[in-house]
Amino acid sequence: MSQAIVITGSTRGIGRCMAVEFLRRGCRVVASGRPAEPPEDLRAALAPFDGNWTYVSCDVRSTAALENLWTEAAAFGGGVDVWINNAGRNAPHEWLADTAQDPVDDLFATNVGGVVHGSRIAARGMLAQGRGAIWNMEGLGSNDMIQVKTILYGTSKRALTYFTQGLAKELEGTPVRAGRLSPGMMLTDFITKSADGEPAPVLRDKSFRFVFNALGDRPETVAAFLVPRMLRNRRNGAQIAWLTGPKAFARFLLAPFRHRNLIP
Ligand SMILES: NC(=O)c1ccc[n+]([C@@H]2O[C@H](COP(=O)([O-])OP(=O)(O)OC[C@H]3O[C@@H](n4cnc5c(N)ncnc54)[C@H](OP(=O)(O)O)[C@@H]3O)[C@@H](O)[C@H]2O)c1
Repeated sequence: MSQAIVITGSTRGIGRCMAVEFLRRGCRVVASGRPAEPPEDLRAALAPFDGNWTYVSCDVRSTAALENLWTEAAAFGGGVDVWINNAGRNAPHEWLADTAQDPVDDLFATNVGGVVHGSRIAARGMLAQGRGAIWNMEGLGSNDMIQVKTILYGTSKRALTYFTQGLAKELEGTPVRAGRLSPGMMLTDFITKSADGEPAPVLRDKSFRFVFNALGDRPETVAAFLVPRMLRNRRNGAQIAWLTGPKAFARFLLAPFRHRNLIP
């Protein structure tokens, strides 16, 4: 039987691209995000697979919404085989001392609270059904890299990594697995837009553009790498990493010859 997949934060970006890749492979997908209805772009991207996907509105900052996502998804898919805590956000690119309280609270409620409660609800449901895999989306900070003006995001992703490694230990010996996805750097709204929807100021930074053009990728490319590996994986505590250290090193060396222009 085809696998049933839930992806939080799949209205756009890597979440939407993973939804398409799972559907291409015959899975049933529950897409999700904060809007009450699936946005038009999402509908268009998933239209070739109508009948195999549904949309459930879920703001991951709400545990009631996450509980509802599990219930609806399990009814749609006959259980849930894969639950991906992908929803995530950044805080304004500024010094901590200049940052207001709301973006801080919002970031931790989404990137940490959403992942912890999403994992908790999925783990409970999966243990009861006797199968399943939980994947959490890492990011800058997961590998301890510290970047000033991004320390809130880095803290949230470092916490997520610790949490997922711990969850895998707790799930050892059960039919449920937990693992991490490491997507590298992707050209999505997350990078290109600031919180108010305007072009992100960081795009004007020449050194950022150099690094991104050397190391970054389109989310479609990363999703096509991650999804088959998730479907094949049988190991608890796995990490599926797109941009490994050696790959990043090779890309830097080749950057002058490749002329990649993701951000012109
Ligand atoms: N882009 C990168 O370079 C990069 C690198 C490493 C890791 N990541 C991680 O990858 C994940 C996806 O990022 P992306 O690059 O695809 O960003 P994106 O294009 O901005 O997409 C973010 C997704 O998260 C959803 N979301 C945000 N807040 C939410 C909430 N409270 N409840 C439910 N959904 C919420 C958004 O949906 P709505 O706004 O429609 O609700 C959207 O679907 C994030 O966890 C991010 O940290 C990204």
